[in-house]
Amino acid sequence: MKLNLEKKVVLVTGGTRGIGKSIVAEFLAEGATVCFCSRTAATVESVEKEFSAAHPNSKCHGAVVDVSVPSQLEAWVSSVASAQGRVDVVVANPSALSMADTPESWNTSFQTDMMAARNLIQAALPHLEKTKGSIVSIATVSARDIDFTAPSPYGALKAALIHYTAQMAHTLAPKGIRANTVSPGNVYFKDGIWEQIEHAKPEFFAKQLKANTMGRMVKPEEVADAVVYLASERASFITGQNLNVDGGLCTGVQY
Ligand SMILES: NC(=O)c1ccc[n+]([C@@H]2O[C@H](COP(=O)([O-])OP(=O)(O)OC[C@H]3O[C@@H](n4cnc5c(N)ncnc54)[C@H](OP(=O)(O)O)[C@@H]3O)[C@@H](O)[C@H]2O)c1
Repeated sequence: MKLNLEKKVVLVTGGTRGIGKSIVAEFLAEGATVCFCSRTAATVESVEKEFSAAHPNSKCHGAVVDVSVPSQLEAWVSSVASAQGRVDVVVANPSALSMADTPESWNTSFQTDMMAARNLIQAALPHLEKTKGSIVSIATVSARDIDFTAPSPYGALKAALIHYTAQMAHTLAPKGIRANTVSPGNVYFKDGIWEQIEHAKPEFFAKQLKANTMGRMVKPEEVADAVVYLASERASFITGQNLNVDGGLCTGVQY
């Protein structure tokens, strides 16, 4: 399937590790120009170098941005739009991954999981209107199932993110802009949350692994493939949807 992403400019927040890094890699492999950010200058630099070497025909630009600080996020979107001349796709990826049911955890999660996505979408809107672009938010199956992360802001705020993204889909459809969410199950990768759990709490890890009836956890590139497809014009009539990439972890039926 040809995705026709070669001339597109894609913004990915949180692109130096795990799912976000795989999303950057998959868009670059499709020939898109990809601008990504994270908070850590050293990893932004090393990941930009790694991708530029791996995809010499594509353009990859990293930036140091804390998405929970609205002024930094808005300045980055604006600078990318000026430098590249267009914005076709935005992917709202980072989470505070905070599982504590404390006021501090709720505040941090709200800024990172919900407001950063909202602010990314709003900052990009004037540019997406010109390109009839698309939006993909990254949520989690913990938004629909009350699981081991409860009680915490994590699933609750990701549920809000799914809802807000669907609101945007309906609001922006007349302008030709699509918005969808991808909700991963347990994603395993080096230095990721599940590798940390595997070492810190092996019994809990084994129990969670067993719940994945396909016998393994999700690979980050499997999430990225769904994101890249939904962002592309091959998904031209799909909007307002929440796509689980969980290998059948959730047992409920989605209608
Ligand atoms: N891993 C899973 O099993 C899983 C399952 C379901 C859903 N998800 C969702 O998938 C998304 C990515 O998860 P992940 O496991 O890949 O996360 P991760 O390993 O923590 O990586 C997050 C990326 O975002 C960056 N980041 C974090 N906070 C940021 C901020 N405030 N501003 C800018 N960049 C920031 C990180 O770099 P710096 O730390 O250097 O900034 C890193 O590049 C999240 O929304 C998460 O909820 C993950």
